[in-house]
Amino acid sequence: MKHILKYFASLKTDESWTYRDLTPKDTAYLTHSYHRYPAKFIPQLVRRIIKEYSNEEELICDPFVGCGTTLLEALLIQRRALGVDINPVAYLITKAKTTYIKPQLLEMHVSKLFAKLNPQKNKTDNKVMERIRESPNYDRVRFWFGDDTIRNLSLILSLIEDMQEKAVQDFLKCGFSHILKNCSCWNMDSIKPARDKDKNIPRAIPTFKRRIIHMTRKNKEYYEILPKKVKARLSDYLDVFCEDCRHIPCEDEYVSIIATSPPYVTSYEYADLHQLTLLWINPETDMTENRKDHIGTTQPKDVSVKEIHSEIGNEIVRRLKNEGSKVNGNKNHYLNGCADAVFTYFAEMQQAFEQFTRVLKPGGIASIVIGNTTLGDVNILNAEVLSEISINVGFKLLKVIKRQIPSNKKWLPSIRNQETGQFASTNCASNKLVYPHEYIIILEKP
Ligand SMILES: C[S@@+](CC[C@H](N)C(=O)[O-])C[C@H]1O[C@@H](n2cnc3c(N)ncnc32)[C@H](O)[C@@H]1O
Repeated sequence: MKHILKYFASLKTDESWTYRDLTPKDTAYLTHSYHRYPAKFIPQLVRRIIKEYSNEEELICDPFVGCGTTLLEALLIQRRALGVDINPVAYLITKAKTTYIKPQLLEMHVSKLFAKLNPQKNKTDNKVMERIRESPNYDRVRFWFGDDTIRNLSLILSLIEDMQEKAVQDFLKCGFSHILKNCSCWNMDSIKPARDKDKNIPRAIPTFKRRIIHMTRKNKEYYEILPKKVKARLSDYLDVFCEDCRHIPCEDEYVSIIATSPPYVTSYEYADLHQLTLLWINPETDMTENRKDHIGTTQPKDVSVKEIHSEIGNEIVRRLKNEGSKVNGNKNHYLNGCADAVFTYFAEMQQAFEQFTRVLKPGGIASIVIGNTTLGDVNILNAEVLSEISINVGFKLLKVIKRQIPSNKKWLPSIRNQETGQFASTNCASNKLVYPHEYIIILEKP
């Protein structure tokens, strides 16, 4: 334990990994701009990792694939790519971003669709409208969307569902998903689901059309730049699964590199953040059940792991429990709940690392990008704990790169309110800065 803490304390920031000068436009090239996603990778950063640790044709796996940044970068430099995410919305975005469609074919489908998008000619209820109205989540739909918008979104989605080509359907659903936050009263400045009563909500059909026109252009650019070999046999190069990464659907010792950024404990509730898409695309979703398999959620759950293979991790959980019992003589229920959530997080990450050792080839590399945080006065040393766990499940720690997260970047929330523990806006004086750095942990499977 001590040598890991000492090693981390001795690390100096490596400026070359900061990517301070990149603008949002620089990171939104090709299909990376299809859909917003919280805490996504900087494409340049993950490409550099892939290039440093793999050769062409090798298999890169991202078990927490999110919106597919790693996979897209892998394909662009002629690696094979395997992505897994528990979240169906992540799966949809990743499929759409990585599966090119021949530009002419796409343009034909899009213009046919646009021609049919006329609410005046489609006044009767369509199948989506009927489905949404009967769904157990209809109240939620009405909480977020106005009646006119519900009608227009139903029309768009029912026309998408009528399309024959699966890739075109996924492409359009991805665009549809992206506009849902804009076209509802969702507060776009909040990193938690919250309503903005004063929002000027744009009309759904023109917003959707603009989005699809943008994506059509990006698809063409992607099609033109993709290496010939990959383009000719994309299905040989790409696999995406909507699965729990503790059960990656591939053989033992199959993967050359894992390049990933895991969820953080008690930061984003990915399941909640994507609820609008689920309300439309999977209206039967049980929103509470849906969170359960997400690693990093605050939702209490049973975990089969009884022991975390990390002294640092156990000490953090102990300290959270102590702090939770003694704040001003009263119990701090928030911190007490966090102690359980943090234990569960470390335990589930341990299961994930065990799975990573199974799928990696001997000599294979796992590169894990992770930051630390604080809860109350307790430092949650995710990077140190995950390093210790990984060593104890059989990895060799090759090195750790410490990178600064430029303060002007919005990729991660940086401030947490000290009373509630929730992430907050950066102008609140009583808050504490978290995540000023993150770590790239490089591991080798012996
Ligand atoms: C930090 S994000 C990854 C973002 C990604 N690097 C990108 O560029 O989009 C973490 C992801 O882990 C996923 N996740 C959480 N629990 C999971 C699990 N048990 N199995 C697989 N994915 C999970 C979340 O849905 C989320 O997409």
